[in-house]
Amino acid sequence: MCAFHLGWFLGPGITVQGWNTPNFAKSYDWTKPDIFRDGARRLEQAFFDFLILEDTSAIPYTYGGNMDFYLRHAAMTPKFDPVIVTPYILEATKKLGVATTMTSTFYPPWILARSMATLDHYSNGRMAWNIVTATSDAAAQNFGYDKQFEHDKRYDMADEFVDLVKQLWGAWEPDAVVNNDETFIDPSKVRTVNFEGEYYKSRGPLNVPRSPQGCPLLIAPGGSPRGRKFSGRNAEVVLGSAENIEEMKQYCIDVRSYAVSFGRDPTKVKLMFAVAPVITKSRQEADEYKQNYPKMLEKRMQHALASMSFLSGIDFSKFDLDAPVGEIKTNGMQTILGKFKDPAVTLRQIVTSPPRWPIVGTPEDVAAELIEAMAEVGGDGYLITGHLKPSYLSQIVDELVPALQKRGATRTEYSHDMLRDNVMAF
Ligand SMILES: Cc1cc2nc3c(=O)[nH]c(=O)nc-3n(C[C@H](O)[C@H](O)[C@H](O)COP(=O)(O)O)c2cc1C
Repeated sequence: MCAFHLGWFLGPGITVQGWNTPNFAKSYDWTKPDIFRDGARRLEQAFFDFLILEDTSAIPYTYGGNMDFYLRHAAMTPKFDPVIVTPYILEATKKLGVATTMTSTFYPPWILARSMATLDHYSNGRMAWNIVTATSDAAAQNFGYDKQFEHDKRYDMADEFVDLVKQLWGAWEPDAVVNNDETFIDPSKVRTVNFEGEYYKSRGPLNVPRSPQGCPLLIAPGGSPRGRKFSGRNAEVVLGSAENIEEMKQYCIDVRSYAVSFGRDPTKVKLMFAVAPVITKSRQEADEYKQNYPKMLEKRMQHALASMSFLSGIDFSKFDLDAPVGEIKTNGMQTILGKFKDPAVTLRQIVTSPPRWPIVGTPEDVAAELIEAMAEVGGDGYLITGHLKPSYLSQIVDELVPALQKRGATRTEYSHDMLRDNVMAF
């Protein structure tokens, strides 16, 4: 049995992967899906369980009060629709799962349920839904609202949304399609749903039969206390971002205890943590890389501020870089507040301080470090977070993964055809 699962989180978005970062090939046509198809095939060769296509539905305008920075630097924009990118990736692969991000806050449940069921059919059961509640006012304004719904209410809505789409997916019995000489579908095996909740109402059923997995694999990344509760109630894979081992452990404890409080088996809730390992040729190069962190981060400071602004809805261009930020409140991503816990630390120190767990080293060293950390945390896997640009992909797939496999830590084959079966296999 392997020690843990691997997924890839396409954090930088689904278009201009890594624009203006080292080794970015400016010549490739980012308006075409080839980089994702090629990347997905490589992930499948390395037996990743799934690839997550992230999403947000707005061009941000928080940093500096306009869209300029984001547009000029291809930061969080442009993005193609992950629901449309998904079948290109599924078509290029046979076993890799694909997790498509769709927000419960703005999607009509019936449409989401139908798209997912269709994709699950066409992929023979390899679909997952990455459930996000959306953070920004900019996104809300694209859907006709003046501002975002209140943070915890978004999760209340999402709980109800999940209940409804599960009922829609379950409204066809597995053997409803009989396809004999008299009958195509047995009417006694397809029922209406007649869902009436506080936020959603739908008659149902879908006009798509039950898909191979019945319900696509449910993935959720909420980091705040309310987000963790949502994950404990609904998610089968939880995406954690934690800065060190202690935080990872706490994340596992929180989500698993919420799962138990909802009567769920906590071993069926898989906790996977986002990491972005840097692979070097030697230990000396790793040391040099680590020493260079403050300089690198200083160079990317505006990017970090723009990203924090988008996620929190607070314009960090207005703050004095050399003073502490003070107490802030956000209706956006709550997890971001953790950065400002220490009132003595300046904004510049926050955005230029190296990661608390820098994962930098030779493939062998990084593999050993990841294995040791996961054993201590008791989690279920890692999400490699980054660009699918060929140079980085090659370091992970050709160097790190073989080192993990050699130690028996990760898959050397897919044990099943469908995504949930693979994810729940250990
Ligand atoms: C690995 C990972 C992937 C995520 N993917 C997305 C995404 O695609 N779209 C999105 O809006 N938020 C994404 N998030 C952010 C979460 O949805 C975030 O936790 C959410 O905005 C609410 O945050 P909160 O519960 O901490 O307030 C991701 C977070 C993590 C850790």
